[in-house]
Amino acid sequence: MIRFVDVQKTYSNGVQALKGVNLQINDGEFVAIIGLSGAGKSTLLRSINKMIPITSGQLYIDDIEISSIRGKALRYLRRSIGMIFQSFNLVKRMSVYNNVLTGRVGYHSTFPTLFGLFPREDKILALDSLDALGILDKAFTRADQLSGGQQQRVALARALTQKPKLILADEPVASLDPITTVQVMDDFARINKDFGITIVANMHHVDLALKYATRIIGIRDGIVVFDGLSSEVNEQILVEVYGRTLKHNEVLGE
Ligand SMILES: Nc1ncnc2c1ncn2[C@@H]1O[C@H](COP(=O)(O)OP(=O)(O)O)[C@@H](O)[C@H]1O
Ligand SMILES: [Mg+2]
Repeated sequence: MIRFVDVQKTYSNGVQALKGVNLQINDGEFVAIIGLSGAGKSTLLRSINKMIPITSGQLYIDDIEISSIRGKALRYLRRSIGMIFQSFNLVKRMSVYNNVLTGRVGYHSTFPTLFGLFPREDKILALDSLDALGILDKAFTRADQLSGGQQQRVALARALTQKPKLILADEPVASLDPITTVQVMDDFARINKDFGITIVANMHHVDLALKYATRIIGIRDGIVVFDGLSSEVNEQILVEVYGRTLKHNEVLGE
């Protein structure tokens, strides 16, 4: 469970990206965060794994207040959270398999893993994850030889290999074509269902967010202006989030 209590984030340049966010995300949910570019979606998402430290308020994960944790406790937190980026963030010249294995790094002291010395269980986990994403046949291909959709699947396999409770995804399909987008979103849905992993995804494509997420958080200028079921989202709510009426299938954001 993730809980934000009056969370504020002010960047060093004075920009107030989060202005008192209160929300709770329960285990197993598939949540989409929607809002205009600059609304605070990435800040909100990245505060959950402490990639971005908050300025005030409290952020709890399973009742642990994460602002104060350091060292080992922070490492344990981070390895329980998978992260997916718009740009996939793979090591380009490494094989798919070795990229996926790096999902296990948080479970070991760095020295052996620097030399690729992962235990057998890790290797099995990596291969299982590749299989679950349907890309086992690509295991020994160089990551940068794959299409964007395949690279995002590798990133998902790497996240799965972490055995996470939660996957954070910051605009996971923004670089993909429409057909690949649907395939990757289907993968997210399957991971959410089959593995019970909580998914929190920033999405600037409203129709996709409504189709895949069970819950929608709408943010505008650092303030949560909607928090409810996808089925409850109507035109008036979208106007509150985006400040105007959207055209059918309109894509907003970056
Ligand atoms: N590292 C940073 N330093 C200063 N301002 C930032 C930084 N990152 C984001 N911002 C600002 O914070 C606000 C929210 O940004 P962000 O969370 O990236 O929004 P979104 O992901 O919804 O586009 C924006 O005004 C943005 O310019
Ligand atoms: Mg963003």
